[in-house]
Amino acid sequence: MSFREDGAAAVDWVAAYLEGVRNLPVLAQVEPGDIHAALPPSPPEEPEPFASVLRDLDAVLLPGLTHWQSPRFFAYFATTASDPGVLAELLVAGLNQVGILWRTSPALQELEEVTLDWLGQLLGLPAGLHGHIEDTASTGVLSALAVARALAPGRRTVLCSEHAHSAVDKAARLLELELRKVPVDAEFRLRPDALRLEDACAVVATIGTTGAAAVDPVPAIADLCEAAGVWLHVDAAYAGSAAICPELRHHFAGWERVDSIGVNPHKWLGTPMDCSALWTSRPDDVRGTFSLVPEFLQSPDEAVSLSELTVPLGRRFRALKLWAVLRCFGRTGLQERIREHVRLAALFESWVEAEPGWEVVAPRHFSLVCFRREGSDEENERLLERVNATGEVFISHARLGGRYALRLAVGNYRTTEDDVRLAWEVLTREAP
Ligand SMILES: Cc1ncc(COP(=O)(O)O)c(C=O)c1O
Repeated sequence: MSFREDGAAAVDWVAAYLEGVRNLPVLAQVEPGDIHAALPPSPPEEPEPFASVLRDLDAVLLPGLTHWQSPRFFAYFATTASDPGVLAELLVAGLNQVGILWRTSPALQELEEVTLDWLGQLLGLPAGLHGHIEDTASTGVLSALAVARALAPGRRTVLCSEHAHSAVDKAARLLELELRKVPVDAEFRLRPDALRLEDACAVVATIGTTGAAAVDPVPAIADLCEAAGVWLHVDAAYAGSAAICPELRHHFAGWERVDSIGVNPHKWLGTPMDCSALWTSRPDDVRGTFSLVPEFLQSPDEAVSLSELTVPLGRRFRALKLWAVLRCFGRTGLQERIREHVRLAALFESWVEAEPGWEVVAPRHFSLVCFRREGSDEENERLLERVNATGEVFISHARLGGRYALRLAVGNYRTTEDDVRLAWEVLTREAP
């Protein structure tokens, strides 16, 4: 078989998968070890045709996949690898660029800079921020805190709300910084009056927290950080993409004043995993922290290589897929999808509110609804397990104000009103 024939078969496979994924059990219905047991214990001695890989993808691996591409995936933050993103990922692999220096792929580096500048414009960020792509928001937080630590010797504390993502805990642990969790108000927002910054090197504020998509009051936090000379990182991994809609932009007030911002196009902007945007108003400080150019990487080029601003030396051509997404959807296409998700979440929220015995437990700002059924935490936990065991939809949970909450996050480009209605039907059917 030739590359063209195998390639056509692979594209056909993906097309058929995407056409049928709605009807597959969303959450993998296997037990730990099942996939292990179905795979040969040792590698093949002789070459096999690519067709065998596709065959075993169907026969062995498919049952062990949780279908993030399903329009009925409502857990965590639902995502989409959109068609242009998927095709661009194929091109990325085919080109196999390794961006260790500007000269090893000038187009990779310059497209990344331009694409991040475009995305910044779409999200209403100020001109002049420096943007690059990291693998994940976790790496973005780790990088921002590494810079903050380097800039403030002797100050070893990081502050964030008790609802900040665990990536902040992990980064603080790795960097041997002390993490202080600040209490939140009744809407799960960081309370600026509880920020004590004397020994702080950084604050992480979140726009769109993982549990409830709460929005920390960034303007007030930025005032305090500016006065104390403390690095402020805004984690908008999920919600940041919503800033493309002018009517949602007010949630992002103040983020133009911060030192670094993370947004994940791989969450809510149609870009296949992984692609996390990181902007900074202080690229020189980032470079000062990360730059290390050994002899074999010295070059006469004037351009500063992006590897001088990051932990990894080699970078993938991630910008190509983000560029394809931005071009093939355009501002209006992306706005349309985010608006539709917000509309569907609002609709679901209205059903919960109207149904006796159910309650919405957090204000809804974007496409995430937090709710629960009357009864104990354990009853809600069991309800979630029953719903997910049906395979019809997949939802997840959070603990908000000490109480167990169910979460429905709309974020897949194929999700329709019928899919959201199905989620509500399954929930009400499985509820005691
Ligand atoms: C607010 C927030 N920050 C960070 C992350 C971590 O993202 P990543 O998987 O890109 O590290 C998440 C993931 O859901 C998130 O919701």
